[in-house]
Amino acid sequence: MTISDSTVAIIGTGNIGSRLAANFAAGGQDFLLAGRDQEADQKLASSLDGHAEAVSVGEAVERGDVLVIAVWLDSFKELIAQYGEQFAGKVIVDPSNPVGPDGAGGYRKVIGEQESSGQILAGLLPTGARLVKAFGTLSAPTLSAAAWQEPERAVQFYAADDDAAGDLVADLIRAGGYEPVRVGGLDQSIRIEMFGDLHEYGALGRVVTKAEALKAI
Ligand SMILES: NC(=O)c1ccc[n+]([C@@H]2O[C@H](COP(=O)([O-])OP(=O)(O)OC[C@H]3O[C@@H](n4cnc5c(N)ncnc54)[C@H](OP(=O)(O)O)[C@@H]3O)[C@@H](O)[C@H]2O)c1
Repeated sequence: MTISDSTVAIIGTGNIGSRLAANFAAGGQDFLLAGRDQEADQKLASSLDGHAEAVSVGEAVERGDVLVIAVWLDSFKELIAQYGEQFAGKVIVDPSNPVGPDGAGGYRKVIGEQESSGQILAGLLPTGARLVKAFGTLSAPTLSAAAWQEPERAVQFYAADDDAAGDLVADLIRAGGYEPVRVGGLDQSIRIEMFGDLHEYGALGRVVTKAEALKAI
């Protein structure tokens, strides 16, 4: 299966979901779009040059082969609890950063220091669902600003245990105007989540090209 014969769905049409939608549409990638406000989703879809079809979350889960779930960690867990076995056989893309407000205008990690949301979510999915960590390494404004960078594409890191699922998401990263670089298996998710060394707000501290990324991992 390749990305061109897969049905891609974005679930969650907030800051990240809507920016990913714009990037995919700019790359000619068709996808389903599902949030909780059908009217708003319809409006967003109609601004994306015919590449997006607004559907309910249930329909996106049913029809999608590759589900990009752009919601916060707790909501992600709720979706897994709700749809459970329906995720089997799907590629689940996780952009989540396990953070919440720290009360002083910043963020704090909401899971253990050594834990990653990628591994936690992968552990909650049914057998046969393959999680790929991607699209959470850049801040929302950067996700828009650095797409289709010239002369060299900016990098989106991803982590995957399953090679075929990783390859599909690498194609999706390309379709959204970035160069994919695999950081390793899901045990490396922590490096590309917020506070990880390869996150835009971590030690790396910026958008990188492929050569720079390969040096950093
Ligand atoms: N913002 C960033 O800079 C950034 C960067 C990297 C990664 N991330 C990660 O990306 C994820 C999304 O962040 P965001 O900034 O896009 O958050 P956001 O703007 O708050 O958007 C989250 C969206 O999820 C929707 N949602 C929640 N539960 C849902 C459900 N059951 N079904 C369908 N939609 C549901 C919300 O809908 P309602 O409006 O109806 O609540 C909202 O539209 C988070 O895990 C975050 O850690 C964010």
